[in-house]
Amino acid sequence: MRHECLSGLLRSRMPGYSLPAALYAGAEAFEADLDAIFLRSWLNVAVVADVPEPGDVYAVDIGRSPVVIVRDDEGGIRAFHNVCSHRGARLVPEGRSIVGKLVCPYHQWTYELTGDLIDAPHMGLDFDKALHDLQPVNVREIGGLIYVCLSNDPPEDIEALAALMGQRLAPYNLAHTKVAAEQEIVEHGNWKLTVENNRECYHCASNHPELALSFHASDFGFDPAALAPEEKREAEALATLYAERTAAWEACGLPSEAVESDVLMPTNYRTQRLIIAGAGESQTPNARAAVKVPLGPMVANGAGDVHLWGINAWAHFMGDHAVVFNLFPLGPDRTLVRTKWLVHEDAEEGVDYDVANLTAVWTETNRQDADLVALAHQGVRSAGYRPGPYSRFTERTLNDWTTWYVARMMASGYA
Ligand code: FES
Ligand SMILES: [Fe+2]
Repeated sequence: MRHECLSGLLRSRMPGYSLPAALYAGAEAFEADLDAIFLRSWLNVAVVADVPEPGDVYAVDIGRSPVVIVRDDEGGIRAFHNVCSHRGARLVPEGRSIVGKLVCPYHQWTYELTGDLIDAPHMGLDFDKALHDLQPVNVREIGGLIYVCLSNDPPEDIEALAALMGQRLAPYNLAHTKVAAEQEIVEHGNWKLTVENNRECYHCASNHPELALSFHASDFGFDPAALAPEEKREAEALATLYAERTAAWEACGLPSEAVESDVLMPTNYRTQRLIIAGAGESQTPNARAAVKVPLGPMVANGAGDVHLWGINAWAHFMGDHAVVFNLFPLGPDRTLVRTKWLVHEDAEEGVDYDVANLTAVWTETNRQDADLVALAHQGVRSAGYRPGPYSRFTERTLNDWTTWYVARMMASGYA
């Protein structure tokens, strides 16, 4: 496929419909996505609990670009390209480690946690180390979530997200959480199918029996004409409850209204405080809190679920724990989804929570979603695939997402 072809595909996208097949499954579209989206956007790739103490480092791969996040000696969070300034070797392996300095395994060039090169053996007395520090990566901490942007010209609209979520997440005290559990799953589908699957709950009732006990699938839209009389009464009752709860939460200082970014802005997000179904406390098998130690006093009882969508991430913040999902593209047809369950740092495993209970709902739901994404990807590769219509009731957000995607690609020169 040639570049003009990619441009033609983007232009051919019909509003209200899913994307042309080659934008999901094509190798050229994948390369363009890495360039236009993953090298230029603010991406949530970590949480503060990944680097709680000075000397903690956490490395992730964003496409082909390894990045290392560092807690420096002063307690600040920094990010660098995880690439040695000598001959480019990767500095630290993926995941968490604890270091005094960053030492390249190849020829032992050594960097401070500030990125300053302090030792480069056998380079001569005239070698100017100051010219070979690590290359910094833009980094922002927002309410305990760590965002990075690989571009030298990062989108300025991150300020809107920072103002919004800084305030919404403050009561959850993420600076005082720990990672209680973590899972990785490789979905056999394009990353955009993973995002689309996450942004609708059209599929929830028939695919997520465990999640359905604590999640109102109708939160993300329904066709009133498709409801039986009893379902209609339930939907009306839930709408009334939302109006009451949202007002009550807001009155006690917990911002709750739905807020979403303008579809043409570079930094894409949506948040809302959702009512948890059933017993109403948490996304667990019985909808009760899984952790005895709440994340913070303001959210200890009945503060619902603050959901957040981002370009490569989604999350749920509840009174007793948070679940943060980060997506990393591995190839046109493979996507890594990393899930972290965060609990208060003082909560003791086996005493205050049981990991199996804490992780049960999303472990099952992730597995179910991975299967659905694989099915969707198998379909888009087929000669029989045609872009399909989004429901205006249950998939409005997918239409917005694909509109955003096409706009970002075009703004990045793929028009
Ligand atoms: S490549 Fe890192 S020290 Fe040589
Ligand atoms: Fe799902």
